[in-house]
Parts: sequence; structure tokens; C-alpha cells
Amino acid sequence: MQINRNPLHLSILIFFLFVAPGGSANAATEESELFAINCAACHGDNGDGGIGIPLALPDFLASVTDDYLFKTIRHGRPGRIMPAFQHLDDEQTWAIVRHIRSWSSGKVKLSPEGAPGDPEKGREIFARYCARCHGPLGKGGAGTGINFTRLHDHPVVAPGLNNPGFLAAASDQIIRTTLLKGRRGTPMLPAAKMGLSSQDVDDVVSYIRSFEKELQRPTKTAMVPAKPTLIATSTDSFAETVENIRQAISEKRLRIIRQHYLDDGLVAQGEENKKQLVIHFGSIQQINTLLTIDPRMGLFLPNRLTVMEQDDGKVMVTAVNPLRFGALFNNANLEHTSRELYKIYSAILEEVSE
Ligand code: HEC
Ligand code: HEC
Repeated sequence: MQINRNPLHLSILIFFLFVAPGGSANAATEESELFAINCAACHGDNGDGGIGIPLALPDFLASVTDDYLFKTIRHGRPGRIMPAFQHLDDEQTWAIVRHIRSWSSGKVKLSPEGAPGDPEKGREIFARYCARCHGPLGKGGAGTGINFTRLHDHPVVAPGLNNPGFLAAASDQIIRTTLLKGRRGTPMLPAAKMGLSSQDVDDVVSYIRSFEKELQRPTKTAMVPAKPTLIATSTDSFAETVENIRQAISEKRLRIIRQHYLDDGLVAQGEENKKQLVIHFGSIQQINTLLTIDPRMGLFLPNRLTVMEQDDGKVMVTAVNPLRFGALFNNANLEHTSRELYKIYSAILEEVSE
């Protein structure tokens, strides 16, 4: 018997020595790769934050469960830049959760469950103590905390709490824990430091939970996806159309920043198609505003219109529809400025079409 067992033990030992450790090292690489591909661009290679808030802070990791992390990845935060990663399967999502956990050796330590609070009192407390950072209705702070490459005065933007993704992920106990402990290394202070009692905390938690009812109500203005491009056909010649556009831009008190041929740099100098012109325009203030709300808007700035003479001699003017920006970047804060931009583009295109 004993002689028979030994080889079995030995093979189990060999399995753990050579196969298992090798396997887990690969798993760790996979975990960090999944994070690098999907998350690092916003949250930083080591979870130290960027466009997305930091994930490696010990206070954060001690106050949230794995289930919270899993659901946050799955649902994202609609309208708050953080995308929903529904294309990742359960296994990949858990792998990312494990990677986030690897940044802290500390244990998850939730505060005890609170008693049901009074949401009406919570509303008042929220308006007084929380709204200046989290927005009057808890929709979240504006901007990303990053403007160009320098840090803004608030290094971390307050997340949206009146948000279906947050509410689906966070239990009352997690919200309560976050309030009681705060998050060291961010502007989020512990409740006691803000002058709030334990009863106040229960009231605020009930108020935050009450956002859920509001969100469940169907909205009348369901988002109709805007068409991706704005197009106008001009009855004037190419040169006249360009002149009309330049004039319309200056009437809007915007500046022409530069213009170049569409195939500039793609063909030898002098060989460019002179009947395909890109006009960049805008105002520095508007560009700054948009970049503060979302640095990725840099892809579309300065504003640009493309003027092209087609083979049949007709002149076409096209632009990316600014109404798409909010949805493209999952950033509801872009919607106001996008609508303003849309009005400007439409007015210019209308003048050209006459
Ligand atoms: C000075 C600005 C500021 C104030 C005031 C403030 N917060 Fe925060 N809060 C933040 C920031 C910034 C974060 C994100 C911290 C991080 O990066 O982990 C945060 C995080 C949170 C979170 C976690 C959200 C999430 O997605 O993980 C909750 C819940 C929260 N705050 C609730 C409140 C409530 C309720 C109040 C009022 C009693 C309040 N905060 C007051 C700035 C603030
Ligand atoms: C395009 C940018 C972007 C990407 C990509 C992104 N996030 Fe986020 N994430 C954010 C932002 C911004 C927030 C804060 C939401 C808010 O302001 O309401 C956030 C919030 C979070 C939170 C909540 C943090 C807290 O304090 O409760 C977690 C967890 C998180 N992200 C994890 C991830 C993971 C994991 C990935 C990759 C699978 C990922 N994010 C990819 C931008 C991003």
C-alpha cells in the first residue's frame, strides 16, 4: 500500500511544483494584460488614476466587495465616461477583479449595516455637504480632472452617485462604509470630518438609494441616435463656397485656425487635390472647455469642415455631427456644449446651402 501511494504523492508534488505555479504565473500575466488592454488608458497602469479615478488606494479597496468591482466593470457608469464592458465574459471580468485586488494586501472591511434613514433629511444633508462635489442631484462632478497634461485643481473628479451603474453595483453597506471611512488620498473625507453623525449617514444613504426610483421612470426624451455626419451641398463654385464658410465662421466670432488640403502629407508636395479642403476653426475658450470636460475631445478639435468638389462639379461640405460626441465618449457632460456646437455647424452649413 505504502509503496503504491508514494508515487501518487510524488506526482501531486511534481504537479504543484511545476505545473501549478507555472499556471498561476500565466494567469497573473493574463489578468494584468486584460487590465492593461481595457482599463489602464483611463485608470493608469498601476491603478493610480487618470481620466478614471484611482483604483489602487487602500481605502477604496478596503471599502468595496469583489461583487461591486465585477458589477462596475459589467455595467459601467452610463453617461460618466466609464464604459460598460459587456463584451468581457465572466471569467475575464473576474480576472480583472483579481488584478485590482493584487494592489492591496489589506482585507475588505465593511462598516456594520446601518438602520433605514430618512431620505428627506438625507436630501438636505446632501445639498449642504455633498452637492458641491457630486453635483446638485448627485449626477457627478464635471470634467475629468485632467486638462491637457496638467492636473486640474481637483485631482479626482467626484463620481456620479445618481447613476444606474453605481446604484446597481453598490450596496447600502458599501455606500455607508465609504461615507464613514472616506478615501484617503482623494478629496472624499470621512463623515465625522465633515461634521456628520451616524444618523446623518443613514439618512444620506437612504437618499442616495432613492435615486433608483427616479432612474426607473421612463423618460420621454429617449435618446434618438444622431446621424454621424452633417452634409450640405452647395450651389456655388468651390472657391465661393470656401469664401462663404470663412465668412460664416467669422460672423460667429470664431477664428479660422488653419486650413489644409485633405490629402496634405499623403501625396507629394504640389500634387494635392486643390478641390478638397479642410478648414479648422473654433475659439480657444471653447476648445479649453471641451478638453476640460473630456480630453479625448482633442481628436475632434479644432472643429473642422471638409469642402470637396465632386466629379459632377457639385460642392459638398461635411462635418462630424457634434451631437454624437456625448454618446461616443459616454460623457453626458459633453451634451450641452455639443448642442451649442451643433447649432454653429448647422448655421454655417445652412448658409452654404443657400
Ligand atoms: C470635496 C469634494 C467631495 C465632497 C464634499 C464629498 N465627496 Fe464623495 N467623493 C469625492 C471624490 C473625489 C470621490 C472619489 C474618491 C476616489 O477616487 O476613490 C468620492 C467618492 C464618493 C463615493 C464613492 C462613489 C464611487 O463611485 O465609488 C460616495 C458614495 C460618496 N463620495 C458620497 C459622498 C457623500 C454622500 C457626500 C456628502 C456627505 C460626499 N461624498 C462629499 C469628493 C467629495
Ligand atoms: C474611458 C475611460 C475609462 C475606462 C476605459 C475604464 N474606466 Fe473605470 N472609470 C472611469 C471613470 C471616469 C470613472 C468614474 C465615474 C464617475 O465619474 O462617475 C470610473 C470608475 C470606475 C470604478 C469605480 C471606482 C470607485 O471609486 O468606486 C471602477 C471599479 C472602475 N472604474 C474600474 C474599471 C475597470 C476595471 C476598467 C477596465 C475593465 C475600467 N474601469 C475602464 C473611466 C474609465
